[in-house]
Amino acid sequence: MGESTKNDWWKRAVFYEIYVRSFKDSNRDGVGDLPGIIEKLEYLHSLGVDALWLTPINPSTDYDFGYDVTDYTGVNPLFGNISDFQLLLKEAHALNIKLILDFVLNHTSVEHPWFLESRSSRTNPKRDWYIWRDGRSPGKPPNRWMSRVIGKAWEFDQNTGQYYYHAFFKQQPDLNWRNPEVKKAMFEAAKYWLDLGVDGFRLDLVNHLVEDELLRENPFNNPLNSSRSIQEMLPYEWQKHLYDRDLPETHEILKELRSLTDSFSSRVLVGEAATFDTSAAASYYGSGDDELHLVFNFNFFTCPFQPRSFLHTALEWHDALPSGAWPCLALSNHDQPRHIGRFAGSFLVYGESQDAVPKGKIAASFLLTLRGSPFLYYGEEIGMRNSFLWPWEVKDPAGKIFWPAFQGRDMSRTPMQWSPSSNAGFSTAKPWLRPDPSYSECNVLYQEQDPYSLLSFYRKLIRLRKEREALALGALEFIPVTSSDYLAYMRKFNNESILIVLNFRNTMVSLSSLGEAHQLRPPWPWKVLLGTSRKAGETLDLRSAWMRPYEVLIAEPVSKGEVE
Ligand code: NOJ
Repeated sequence: MGESTKNDWWKRAVFYEIYVRSFKDSNRDGVGDLPGIIEKLEYLHSLGVDALWLTPINPSTDYDFGYDVTDYTGVNPLFGNISDFQLLLKEAHALNIKLILDFVLNHTSVEHPWFLESRSSRTNPKRDWYIWRDGRSPGKPPNRWMSRVIGKAWEFDQNTGQYYYHAFFKQQPDLNWRNPEVKKAMFEAAKYWLDLGVDGFRLDLVNHLVEDELLRENPFNNPLNSSRSIQEMLPYEWQKHLYDRDLPETHEILKELRSLTDSFSSRVLVGEAATFDTSAAASYYGSGDDELHLVFNFNFFTCPFQPRSFLHTALEWHDALPSGAWPCLALSNHDQPRHIGRFAGSFLVYGESQDAVPKGKIAASFLLTLRGSPFLYYGEEIGMRNSFLWPWEVKDPAGKIFWPAFQGRDMSRTPMQWSPSSNAGFSTAKPWLRPDPSYSECNVLYQEQDPYSLLSFYRKLIRLRKEREALALGALEFIPVTSSDYLAYMRKFNNESILIVLNFRNTMVSLSSLGEAHQLRPPWPWKVLLGTSRKAGETLDLRSAWMRPYEVLIAEPVSKGEVE
């Protein structure tokens, strides 16, 4: 454990997800673009991030904002052109920042030339590139599989009298990965970007690539028995997905993709396995080093602000991984409400309470000191909140369908808040999505000048993570404490031991039970490395210390090497 080579850069790396449309607009069309990201590379460098994940940059019908691709080797003109991309890659690399691209493997746009051909006739050579089937009887789709978003997963095509399958929106027909020509075409696209020098891919919906050939029905599932969150109770979850996802053939495809990726040096594959089933998600690591390098765990997206939930989710994830696999950690992304709103929202996930900043510091500390590769989502470093949008402002198709029950994913996709100037400094034109009004107070410009801001804290934390091998690569050891108010754990690497204590409560909390924990006996004085209530260098005795409300404490023994 803890070993790392140059090829394993992704183990130490702090990743940063950029929702390209919303990061920085350089050409005044109200949409973020690649030159905009170039403008902000210095900012990202100063934050300390090591790798960027860009949401899809390919040409797209933009129904699902990039996740409906029409050309896998092109660049969406809204974002720039291939020269802009190459310049971005070059400049990022010059700052030692890696770049990974979103690769939408499971489906294309209905407007992709492959699908246009495929749907043109039953005998078209590309017919079998997608999943076409006859209905069970007139008006009845081939089976009862559900789309992840709404309704059945089948769409009738008048022209050829058959149904096509779509795990997501009907505008996103699933590719047929059993067809070797599909695999070849998609692998060629991957190779195209790897040849250009991209450092890897974030793979969309990896667990959906293959479906049962016999279209067997999924059995009934009662989500009330197992769910931990509202997301897990949506109609889609009322089926046990035995036949429409997580099929064994998917693993074979990912192994081949891994071999292709490994034929280039130092590249990474990060997968979105869309499931709350921890062991199913972990299965995409393969045997530990033959499928994906990193896989997201959806349970972190629904975890409430409770030390025991954080602990449980982290332990369950570590236990589920095959040996040799490396955890992947993210609390927010472009599909989920931002975690600051989940933890400190005053009404559901909107707006924020006074606790937002201290809670944001606790969350940041967890994300950046736990064992695994952390993924930040743009704007979380300044505590951008979930935005409330009126129905006429909604852009996300899911929000258009479900508002007000669900306002859609726009809430976490609003323009990056660079400054208090108009449109949050994101664009001089009208932004594609209304910026959250909080930008007049909450923005990069102000927080850069405030040593106690969330942004300054992220910077210090990331710097410390780089300075201390134990924080990036060390073994993780949770310290059992009787209190359910705080979380305590150690990271250990060679002779280095670092203690992290996070007080999740808005009250003073005694550390006496921590002082008694056998890992920490005898209670040598500890020296603060970084904290929200104590200065670096200060010493404390854990037996008698108290944590202040929402305090973060990162410390090491005064004399190193004394912790077993
Ligand atoms: C997951 C992506 O993160 C999401 O934004 C997208 O809508 C679906 N996959 C479909 O591609």
